Amino acid sequence: MNPTETAPTTDLEHSPVAELVQSRATGAQWLSRYNSSLLGVFGTPQRVLVRGAGCLVWDADGKEYLDLLGGIAVNALGHAHPFVTSVISSQLATLGHVSNFFTSPTQIALAEKLLEITRAPAGSRVFFANSGTEAVEAAFKLARRNTGSEEKPRTKVIALEGAFHGRTMGALALTAKEAYRAPFAPLPGGVEHVPFGDIDALRAAVDDTVAAVFLEPIQGEAGVRPLPAGYLRAAREATSAAGALLILDEVQTGIGRTGKWLASEDAGIMPDAVTLAKGLGGGFPIGALVTYGPETSALLTAGQHGTTFGGNPVATAAALATLHVLENQQVLGHVRKLGEHLRAGLAAVHGVTEVRGDGLLIGFDLDADVAPAVVTAGLGAGFIVNSPGPHTIRLAPPLILTTEQADRFLAALPALLQTAKDAQ
Ligand SMILES: Cc1ncc(COP(=O)(O)O)c(C=O)c1O
Repeated sequence: MNPTETAPTTDLEHSPVAELVQSRATGAQWLSRYNSSLLGVFGTPQRVLVRGAGCLVWDADGKEYLDLLGGIAVNALGHAHPFVTSVISSQLATLGHVSNFFTSPTQIALAEKLLEITRAPAGSRVFFANSGTEAVEAAFKLARRNTGSEEKPRTKVIALEGAFHGRTMGALALTAKEAYRAPFAPLPGGVEHVPFGDIDALRAAVDDTVAAVFLEPIQGEAGVRPLPAGYLRAAREATSAAGALLILDEVQTGIGRTGKWLASEDAGIMPDAVTLAKGLGGGFPIGALVTYGPETSALLTAGQHGTTFGGNPVATAAALATLHVLENQQVLGHVRKLGEHLRAGLAAVHGVTEVRGDGLLIGFDLDADVAPAVVTAGLGAGFIVNSPGPHTIRLAPPLILTTEQADRFLAALPALLQTAKDAQ
């Protein structure tokens, strides 16, 4: 065939992907192939998933699961959402990639929409990336451009103990966990971690040598730990007084996860920048950095940062479709109500000692170090949950989870805890 001719598009049933979907290989067979072909950074995955619909997914052995993790706070509208799926397909069939020598209507419209929902003032701007860690890298570079003066350079960046900001080198320097950091030293310098939630420690650390403070309004990976009330406001005051940027990492907490567009909304402050990713594309990879106001937005100039894929028409169309559904189907109100219901239900379960979080980002502690065994028991009973710590379970389900589905999990939880304890 002449390479310029269009390949036949109708024979989808025999595409290499369709053949995989129709394959009769078992989960165990797939995992054996996985272990001899993929780098071992994730260990062996828990299951091989082949299909999803709404809040349900199915594995290669045909078992059904209620997905209470949503791809770690990513599948905001569940799996295979029909509207998002058709918008993505139609955009891909129209224009898929253009490079950043060019722009596209979806990129511009999404930037405008993000400026609107993040309540960014005039002169604010957006940079698009493909993931959370890339959004944080862009924010780190923004922070480095808050240089200070020649006599008094701003050499430090502050983050919190327990922080998770990603795995690329800059984001890793901001991430606190020693086990993630140590193998990759030296990391980009100047980052100091101060104790979580201790405003006096933050005030003491922030002076005119600090370029930026990075904060997660709720530390997700640390077990869903919200910053104490008043902390963000105090952090804003301290950074403003010292001329340091306040950068909020809302990669996990943003885009409706807490029943608000941003988890930090309630604090009533304006940050200098916000990072977003996870739920933004409804399952399609996209990240974003929003810079607030003209001064901060001018810190990165032409040629100082870039990306090949970031802001491509398909990813930005996916995000526009996701935001459209979240807005038009009043999903945020649902998240607030269901989150309260779920947290109240969890607090009433024997063996649950503390429940934290906001909206549908929920962490709860158990009276024994059995969280990994609860994850295993959950899989056995058809529930996907996560254990960010030995006695902590995290839930970050699709934002369209129904009350009936939440109640199904609440009803099953006592037995899961018992199974986990019996297995110890
Ligand atoms: C707060 C926060 N920032 C950054 C990241 C990194 O995002 P990604 O895994 O998309 O690179 C994560 C991921 O969990 C996160 O929770």
